[in-house]
Amino acid sequence: MTIDPNRVLIFDTTLRDGEQSPGATMSHEEKLEIAALLDEMGVDIIEAGFPIASEGDFAAVSEIAKLAKRATICGLARANFKDIDRCWEAVKHAKSPRIHTFIGTSPQHRAIPNLTMDEMAERIHDTVTHARNLCDNVQWSPMDATRTEWDYLARVVEIAIKAGATTINIPDTVGYTAPMESADLIRRLIAEVPGADSVVFATHCHNDLGMATANALAAVAGGARQIECTINGLGERAGNTALEEVVMALKVRHDIMPYTTGVDTTKIMHISRRVSTVSGFVVQPNKAIVGKNAFAHESGIHQDGMLKSKDTFEIMRPEDVGLSGTSLPLGKHSGRAALRAKLKDLGFDMVDNQLNDLFVRFKALADRKKEVFDDDLIALVTDAAAVG
Ligand code: KIV
Ligand code: ZN
Repeated sequence: MTIDPNRVLIFDTTLRDGEQSPGATMSHEEKLEIAALLDEMGVDIIEAGFPIASEGDFAAVSEIAKLAKRATICGLARANFKDIDRCWEAVKHAKSPRIHTFIGTSPQHRAIPNLTMDEMAERIHDTVTHARNLCDNVQWSPMDATRTEWDYLARVVEIAIKAGATTINIPDTVGYTAPMESADLIRRLIAEVPGADSVVFATHCHNDLGMATANALAAVAGGARQIECTINGLGERAGNTALEEVVMALKVRHDIMPYTTGVDTTKIMHISRRVSTVSGFVVQPNKAIVGKNAFAHESGIHQDGMLKSKDTFEIMRPEDVGLSGTSLPLGKHSGRAALRAKLKDLGFDMVDNQLNDLFVRFKALADRKKEVFDDDLIALVTDAAAVG
């Protein structure tokens, strides 16, 4: 089997990094449901939890590992044998298990375990070797990689590769990098670290400066072939790269980013709504791809354009993300064309002077209400008929 060099693996961490958002805790059943939806939609790797964190996390990761049909199931472990053993106990049931182990390598994070740089390098060697003795598929992450000194980062990445890591993830833990830097860092690691061509490089971005999606895509341009992301961008602080954004960006702009994923995009809306419900994190209305307004057009000019040709104001089809179609909500910015189309949908075919009269009433109502719903319109038509 030949491996497509432009295939990008999608690694979803909604159930691990996403669940770390304060207040986003999900129940065992909810986690199983989300994992099943991720598996069905074609996500390549599901990071199902942090098995040593709690009995609940251990149980969820083990169960997901047993149930997954297609995806690789991954668990997170800190750089110590106890975490790694516990992680393996949970993921080993999967058809395709992965251990993901990490340690903070930046000056800010190195201070915490009180290790010298040499001691940390040795710890990385020992823990990755240990993980690899348990599992053929080992991911290693230098946490806060984007604030780690280049020489040290290159050194520890080489150690992890030699110790048997199969994926090297480069986390932008605090959302500090910017697109050009993100691309350059991956490109340089691949070019300069011995053995880099034998592993997959991954990108894991946080959204503190609103650049997570741009940084992840830039990393892919630099050579990363795994994107770590979450549904709705759920995650600590400002969240992680949003799965729906990177997947749709690669689909819609395939002309300039010729990379593919295995995700069935028509499943996006459903899983987005389920994650929002079970996590209790409401999706902002103007959120790209999955926000309530992402495919809604209110202004008269936009609605008129959309009624004539969809490509005037839409760069992707709502059906491609699992919606039934475009929405043209009626409000004070809407025009006659949208009102006529909506009335037609509701079964009212109006001649011009009837429509003109109704349009005046509609505008008066829209000035008082944020949105005019179907029932409001029916009431307007009924009132007009009674008066007329
Ligand atoms: O943001 C981060 O650095 C992480 C690591 C555990 C990979 O989530
Ligand atoms: Zn993270």
